[in-house]
Amino acid sequence: MYDLIVKKRDGGRLSEAEIGWLIREYVKGEIPDYQMAAFLMAVYFRGLDGEETTCLTLEMADSGERVDLSSLPGVVVDKHSTGGVGDTTTLVLAPWVAASGLPVAKMSGRGLGHTGGTVDKLESIPGFRTQLDQEEFLRTVREVGVAVTGQSPNLAPADGKLYALRDVTGTVDSIPLIASSIMSKKLAGGAQAIVLDVKVGAGAFMKDLTSARALAETMVEIGRSVGRSTVAVLTSMDQPLGNAVGNALEVLEAVATLRGEGPADLAELCLELGAHMLVLGGRAEDVLEGRKILQELQRGGQALDTFKRWVAVQGGDPSFVDEGLPLAPERVEVPAPHDGVVSGLNALAVGRAAAALGAGRARKGDPVDHGVGVLLRRKVGDVVEEGEPLAELYCRGGRGLEEARRLLEEAYTIAEEAPSKPGLILEVIR
Ligand code: URA
Ligand code: CA
Repeated sequence: MYDLIVKKRDGGRLSEAEIGWLIREYVKGEIPDYQMAAFLMAVYFRGLDGEETTCLTLEMADSGERVDLSSLPGVVVDKHSTGGVGDTTTLVLAPWVAASGLPVAKMSGRGLGHTGGTVDKLESIPGFRTQLDQEEFLRTVREVGVAVTGQSPNLAPADGKLYALRDVTGTVDSIPLIASSIMSKKLAGGAQAIVLDVKVGAGAFMKDLTSARALAETMVEIGRSVGRSTVAVLTSMDQPLGNAVGNALEVLEAVATLRGEGPADLAELCLELGAHMLVLGGRAEDVLEGRKILQELQRGGQALDTFKRWVAVQGGDPSFVDEGLPLAPERVEVPAPHDGVVSGLNALAVGRAAAALGAGRARKGDPVDHGVGVLLRRKVGDVVEEGEPLAELYCRGGRGLEEARRLLEEAYTIAEEAPSKPGLILEVIR
């Protein structure tokens, strides 16, 4: 291990055999964390080339069980987002794409940090079970075309161990390490094709277009070299996606979007990502056709019907679709300090506000409060008058209220004139 650390520190290239050895011995506990931490820091500064990155990805994917989805009919297309604030796309896309006949078999994580992950959001539906074993997972996909389950601890365990170490050693922000981490889980999860949503902006890992493009290109190249068609869509994450940030609030927003009544930005992103999934899955010739198919499934009600059937098969009570979900009892408005136009809305600050109210978790294993969160009433480009609500906080027992209010006040920038609004979809990398 000492030799490998020094080799990478000095800018050398590791062989396939060396990377294989490193991952296997680390998972077995034969390499101590301090040596792996030094190695990760060397990678942070020296990088990994394409072959090293692919090799690391495959070794991590093979460090646990690989899910076999080959018994499902059709191409299983997975979707992954590099993480933003209030990103409700999986809840919308999984049933929507499934309604087109393309199977959706997805593993999702719990959230760490500002808001819950997809699994936490789904658990705000009474009765919904998010821990399916392999057999039930596949049976559910066969029955309703879609299943979403929590990630098994044996999915790419090398990544879990390395990510925890990176998190405390300042080595998360490395493009080859992020790319191999994400792609190893997609490969182990059995995806036959992959659509990536790479977020750019204040609320994302990648703060600028250049680094987001580099991350996207690295992941698309990994996909290509292991024979899984991969497309990356670069999307803006300066302000939160949609209006809801919080678990149950986002589930309700997903239902509204499946009905065609959701926020325009969330609906647009889901259409774009879904269309790429349909193209990779062979259901549409191109993105334009994919969008048309999805729009018809939404107008015809099949998308929402699939959502309801999916909820029921995973144990949830779909009547909430018409009756709503229990939300936190206290509602506090954050008023605009003066007249103007919203020229900025910091996604990270909104995420932190939701976390302060109890929507996220600071430590692994902490509980989340499904009913709390933030509902944005004004977003970038909207006109406001002094005293009108910018946002509404849903809270319980006053928990985190003062901090959330302060964060929301800081998150909004109100100017005299409307800003030039950058598009939501910035680039597509194939
Ligand atoms: N998400 C991941 O899964 N891994 C990373 O390294 C960063 C974000
Ligand atoms: Ca949202």
